[in-house]
Amino acid sequence: MAAAKRLISRLTLVTGGGSGIGRAVCQRFASEGASVVVADISEESANETLGSLQSDLKGQGHMATVVDVSSKESVTKLVTSIQTCYFQPPSVCVNAAGITQDNFLLSMTEEQFDKVIQINLKGSFLVTQAVAQALVSCGASRGSIISVGSIVGKVGNIGQVNYSSSKAGVEGLTRTAAKELSRFGIRCNCILPGFISTPMTDKVPEKVITKMKSLIPMGRMGEPAEVADVCAFLASDDSRYITGASIEVSGGLFIG
Ligand SMILES: NC(=O)c1ccc[n+]([C@@H]2O[C@H](COP(=O)([O-])OP(=O)(O)OC[C@H]3O[C@@H](n4cnc5c(N)ncnc54)[C@H](O)[C@@H]3O)[C@@H](O)[C@H]2O)c1
Repeated sequence: MAAAKRLISRLTLVTGGGSGIGRAVCQRFASEGASVVVADISEESANETLGSLQSDLKGQGHMATVVDVSSKESVTKLVTSIQTCYFQPPSVCVNAAGITQDNFLLSMTEEQFDKVIQINLKGSFLVTQAVAQALVSCGASRGSIISVGSIVGKVGNIGQVNYSSSKAGVEGLTRTAAKELSRFGIRCNCILPGFISTPMTDKVPEKVITKMKSLIPMGRMGEPAEVADVCAFLASDDSRYITGASIEVSGGLFIG
């Protein structure tokens, strides 16, 4: 349940909106009054999210669409179709699409490394670039781009050399984008989740989950809605003087 209606009249785009954190972000944005474009590589999941969105306000209209964030052509098509539909680019964008393909460094294949970098890092770059270009071209007065990194981009994680590299890259991308885009009124920030219950972590073996939980000062995994709450803050004007920041949503995991 949203505490506020901070996103009334805002058009928002959420990649990876078909599942887990992305879905929770779509739901939170809709409950705060935003129109939401749910974008995912899975049409079925995107439509399922669409069906779960609140739409009580006049002028609030959501859509679901397919995108492959690792393809420039697909991302360009996405932003063009949003502008055709809504006559404006999204002023809020959340890069939540992401994958894992875990393996130890000694056995990781080039394909596993490239695939994760292409979706998690290059995908965040392509979407950030396309949305920023659209906002600058139409002379928008403000924008907020939020990328979902990970705590493991800071501390590393056994079996995730590809994933942790991609997430460290997302932080560098965000800080640079923040420096370049501030003069256009566009803020760029990162959220670094710790260990959140989603289909992504459902794949993690029970014994690893038990070990991870023992390392979390708050003693439990996070919920997607707890990440979505922070996204809503970063999307809204409540965070208007915050850019280039990385906010950890981790229950204290790896605070030192
Ligand atoms: N769950 C966690 O503990 C955790 C921790 C840190 C960071 N994250 C990050 O949060 C984000 C969301 O993860 P989640 O846990 O909700 O996972 P999830 O698997 O539930 O959701 C990821 C979504 O991304 C979509 N997707 C995958 N490839 C895509 C592509 N090429 N183009 C468009 N969409 C694509 C999937 O279809 C899926 O709907 C990811 O970036 C992930 O790396 C998750």
